[in-house]
Formats: sequence, C-alpha cells, structure tokens
Amino acid sequence: MTILLRFLHVFCGALWVGAMAYQVFFLMPALAEAGPDSGKLMSSLARRKIPQIMLLVAIIAIVSGVWLLMRLMGGDAEGLMRTGMGKTFAWGGTAAIVAFLIGVVVVRPSMMKMMKLGQSLPSAPPDQRPAIQAQMQTLRARGESLGKVVAALLFIALALMAVARYV
Ligand code: HEM
Repeated sequence: MTILLRFLHVFCGALWVGAMAYQVFFLMPALAEAGPDSGKLMSSLARRKIPQIMLLVAIIAIVSGVWLLMRLMGGDAEGLMRTGMGKTFAWGGTAAIVAFLIGVVVVRPSMMKMMKLGQSLPSAPPDQRPAIQAQMQTLRARGESLGKVVAALLFIALALMAVARYV
C-alpha cells in the first residue's frame, strides 16, 4: 500500500511541477508572441482536456501527500514536527497546497475562459475578433503573472520534498 501511495505521490508531483513550469515559462510566452494565431492552439489544447487532467494530477499528489504525512506521524503529530524532516515535509506540503489554491481560484478560471474564447474565435463575426483577441491577451497576462507565483511555490515544495529526509 505504502509503495503505491509513494509511487502515485512522486509520479503525480513530478508531473504537476513539470507541466506547470512548461506552461508558465514556455507555453504562455509563446502564446503571447503568437498573438492572434494563438486561438487555434488554445482550442486544440482544450480539446485534449489538459486542464481537467492537470487538476486530477494535482489532487492525487496532494491527497497522497497528506496521507503519507499522516502515516509518517503515526498519531504523534507533535513528535514528527519536532524533527527537521517532519517540518520540511510539512512546509513543502503547505507550499504545494497554497500553489494549488491560487491555481484553482485565480489561474485556472482565467485560462479556461481564454480557451473558450479561443474556441469561439473561428466562428465569431470578423468585426468582433479583435475585441475577443484583446480579451484573450488580458486573461493570458493575468494567468501568466499568477502562474509564475504558482510555479515558484511548486519549486519550493519540490526542493523541500527532495531534501526533507536529510535535514
Ligand atoms: C509539488 C508537489 C509535490 C511534489 C513534487 C512532491 C514530491 C515528493 C517527493 C519527490 C518525495 C520523495 C522524498 C523522499 O522520499 O526522500 C515526497 C515525499 C513526501 N511528500 Fe511530497 N511532493 C509534493 C506535494 C506534497 C504534499 C502536498 C504533501 C502533504 C501535505 C506531501 C507530503 C510528502 C510526504 C509526507 C513525503 C514522505 C513520504 C514517505 O514517508 O516516504 N508532498 N514528495
């Protein structure tokens, strides 16, 4: 059981950080550069259900992490928190959970709205397209700046998880 939990945790955690870093540091700047051409790419991304898959991956990483932390406590939370390892796993977990909340409450709705606008773009009347594109760029800019905060928190979580057993 523990081996499965650990597998799911590390696998989904790695996928979450990696996908988020790729999205924030490569995909979003590329979409900004593509300008009006970004609509087509956004709609193909939406069709591949990337937002839903990423949400599931993040939830699995968090639920398995909390479960692992509880197993590590073994009923003595204070005892674990007196150790460097316990504190480091707990701070790492907290950073990941804060990242998740910012992602779900702010970044995700902006990106979902942007993808929907991207999908509606080809069928929109030509005179409305510039306004839709401008709205998409505003949403992308909001997603990008807060996405950087999320990515930074996930890097902190990853770094703390990586060293926790050695502190
Ligand atoms: C960005 C998200 C996360 C990533 C990339 C991540 C990554 C990792 C990695 C690589 C390990 C293995 C460390 C080792 O055994 O030396 C680990 C272990 C662990 N993680 Fe996370 N983690 C994340 C989120 C969380 C969260 C949200 C929690 C809980 C609140 C958590 C709690 C734990 C615990 C308790 C362990 C030790 C498991 C054991 O007993 O072997 N992690 N994590």
